[in-house]
Amino acid sequence: MAGMLSRLIGGDLADLAQDPLGEFCRRSRQGGVVPLQIALTRGHLVSDLAAIRHVLLDNLANYDKHTPAFDAVRVVLGNGMLTSGGAFWKRQRRIAQPAFHGEKVRHFGPIISKMAAECAAAWEAAAATGDPVDAGTDMMRVTLRAVAETLFGDDMAGDAAEINRVFPTILTCLAARVSSPLRSPLWVPTANNRRLRPALGTLDAIVDRLIATKRRRLAAGGTSEPKHRDLLTILMLARDEETGETMSDLQLRDEVMTLLIAGHETTANALAWLWVLLDRHPDEQERLRAELVTATGGRDPTVDDLPRLPRLKAVIQETLRLYPPVWMFDRRAVGPDDLAGTPVAKGDLVIFCPYALHRLPQLWSDPDAFRPERFEAGKEEQKNKFAYLPFSAGPRICLGASFAMIESQIIVGTLLSRFRVRLVDPSPIIATPRVTLRTSRPVILRPERAPLAAR
Ligand code: HEM
Repeated sequence: MAGMLSRLIGGDLADLAQDPLGEFCRRSRQGGVVPLQIALTRGHLVSDLAAIRHVLLDNLANYDKHTPAFDAVRVVLGNGMLTSGGAFWKRQRRIAQPAFHGEKVRHFGPIISKMAAECAAAWEAAAATGDPVDAGTDMMRVTLRAVAETLFGDDMAGDAAEINRVFPTILTCLAARVSSPLRSPLWVPTANNRRLRPALGTLDAIVDRLIATKRRRLAAGGTSEPKHRDLLTILMLARDEETGETMSDLQLRDEVMTLLIAGHETTANALAWLWVLLDRHPDEQERLRAELVTATGGRDPTVDDLPRLPRLKAVIQETLRLYPPVWMFDRRAVGPDDLAGTPVAKGDLVIFCPYALHRLPQLWSDPDAFRPERFEAGKEEQKNKFAYLPFSAGPRICLGASFAMIESQIIVGTLLSRFRVRLVDPSPIIATPRVTLRTSRPVILRPERAPLAAR
């Protein structure tokens, strides 16, 4: 009876709530386009590659982001690039895109290297006393600082601690909003809003001040060489090539919030999983360390070394296949459509589950196995880009994909050049789907000093 009731109220939510990843995998294996009733809304889980391409590329204009999940995060991200749509999104993306091209992103390599070296120093101290480290927390700290310093440059030095302090609260409160059916406006004094409001207020004040400081400096004619510019300056100076427009302060605020949030938890979770996988595959650690010593002589890798580290890149890609941080995302149909023979009505949700897609036996051989060689150049197992969606695909593909890859390679390369790592507790760690794909418990590692080069 209780099951029937929850089915009536929640559609397929009851099954999904029990074991979301297992349920998505089972339904995806049915292939094509599978119905998924979410409360009163009709949903379609799409695993057919042509249908995925249709929604993310060919008929992009028919699908927007007015879904419950995106509505829940608008309170923080406003009308930033992740949440906006239509002509407005297109203009923002056009302005920001050049700053995120592979070549441009390489300029941020030294900032990432500095953060990676700081993390390595903390691990050295732990290794010296035999203490374990919490890799999940450490990866979160490094990736937040990397994206914040990339955005603000030296200006944020005095704010780093405060940004670090409020962010966990903001992420926790956002996660609670996404999973709750009730999404009250921020002024309603719910317990969650009472926690979120002051944290967001603090961050907003810092971001507004940093934008104002930078505007003043630009107005006074003071800007650094293009090569050394921070991302906020680049975004402030960028002009839409079609209209000549620049971004307003309000728009800059929304984009900064978006980059801070989209740009750090995702990468941090991927890296937490990577350490879990390297614990389970010590042979892979040795292989990566051998690749590093050949490419760098054992010093910390820089962005220029990355082309000589293909196995490291493949390991990161394979981690993103098995544990995609954005394990699910969705769209809302603006008008009727047809997906691989399934009629879609206006207002229906279209759901993508990279976690399930990446484990489909019809797309990947031995899909649950960790096999980085799938991604080695020249023998990529999957050439269809709609079968591998850690960063989505099409015009709305993750803006920070190159940034995330470069960042991950530098951080992991730096730490592996100095340490071997093992999990303190070898019992299983299970994928736990929240807003991003979390580990079921903290990833506590014992780093053992094993420098590849004399220091
Ligand atoms: C491993 C790390 C990352 C993963 C797995 C990831 C994944 C994704 C995915 C799946 C989307 C598409 C969401 C959708 O359309 O519904 C997305 C969008 C986006 N990501 Fe990432 N991301 C990562 C890192 C980053 C970084 C480092 C940045 C910025 C520095 C970033 C900025 C963005 C932005 C701005 C969008 C919105 C793009 C648009 O709609 O035009 N992401 N990301």
